[in-house]
Amino acid sequence: HHVAVLMGGWANERPVSLMSGEGVAKALEARGHRVTRIDMDRQVAARIAEAAPDVVFNALHGVPGEDGTVQGMLDLMGVPYTHSGLATSVIAIDKELTKHALVPHGIPMPGGRIVESESIYEKDPLARPYVLKPVNEGSSVGVAIVTDESNYGNPIRKDVKGPWQEFERLLAEPYIRGRELTAAVLDDGTGPRALTVTELVPKSGFYDFDAKYTDGMTDHICPAQVPERIFKLCKAYAVQAHVLLGCNGCSRTDFRWDDEQGEDGLFVLETNTQPGMTALSLVPEQARHCGISYEDLVEALVEEALA
Ligand code: DAL
Ligand code: MG
Repeated sequence: HHVAVLMGGWANERPVSLMSGEGVAKALEARGHRVTRIDMDRQVAARIAEAAPDVVFNALHGVPGEDGTVQGMLDLMGVPYTHSGLATSVIAIDKELTKHALVPHGIPMPGGRIVESESIYEKDPLARPYVLKPVNEGSSVGVAIVTDESNYGNPIRKDVKGPWQEFERLLAEPYIRGRELTAAVLDDGTGPRALTVTELVPKSGFYDFDAKYTDGMTDHICPAQVPERIFKLCKAYAVQAHVLLGCNGCSRTDFRWDDEQGEDGLFVLETNTQPGMTALSLVPEQARHCGISYEDLVEALVEEALA
């Protein structure tokens, strides 16, 4: 096939997307596909039309790219593409809208509230410790954990340049102590199935941008060494989230598990519709664990998009 790999763009996650895109492009070339690499700019529609690929591999992360904009454009152009469609992307990129879609169906997610960034300087939106995050970013861009020990002041001082600084709409959620887990779902045409569960153990601090993309900064325990009940619940919630949101191809659902609370301590944080495809990324790692090579995974996503 002729595959246009769409990557880069101007999202905060641009560097991650370029890594995902290059990995995907090389894998497709290794499998004999013709590849056109497209670093997204404002002329992207014209460039895709000119390339006239059979299919677009969407390797974009964040906004724009993971949020429905690119999906809507490709729908209008009539070009098939990998991963989720317009409506799913709009909902899943927004961590608050995701709650509205999943919580009524019994998927446990942390409570919390949307706050305007200006208001956090007046009083804490929640009891500490809490997490402050942009409602629609990925890779932990803009995420802060606000504790009594953090150097942000109490209430947060306005002169403190926190990670939230450039974002207006923030989500404040209670911080869930304990462990970080994730489960990928792959649907290669035979229905969605959870691959496995990975525990992420950052060597210091939390699983932030640097811990995610610097080799050696986080231990990936795959499969996670957690009680069977928790393992199964993660897989079940990941598949349910994938189905409820209407995801295509693959998705990855992230969890926190407060291991002192047993089953009641398991919470879905979000579902990623454009999960990373870098050398340190979790979906390729889980696929490998299941006997699916990186090339097989990429090929499966392309075939599913064309089906
Ligand atoms: N947002 C990054 C790419 C991920 O979910 O893997
Ligand atoms: Mg994410």
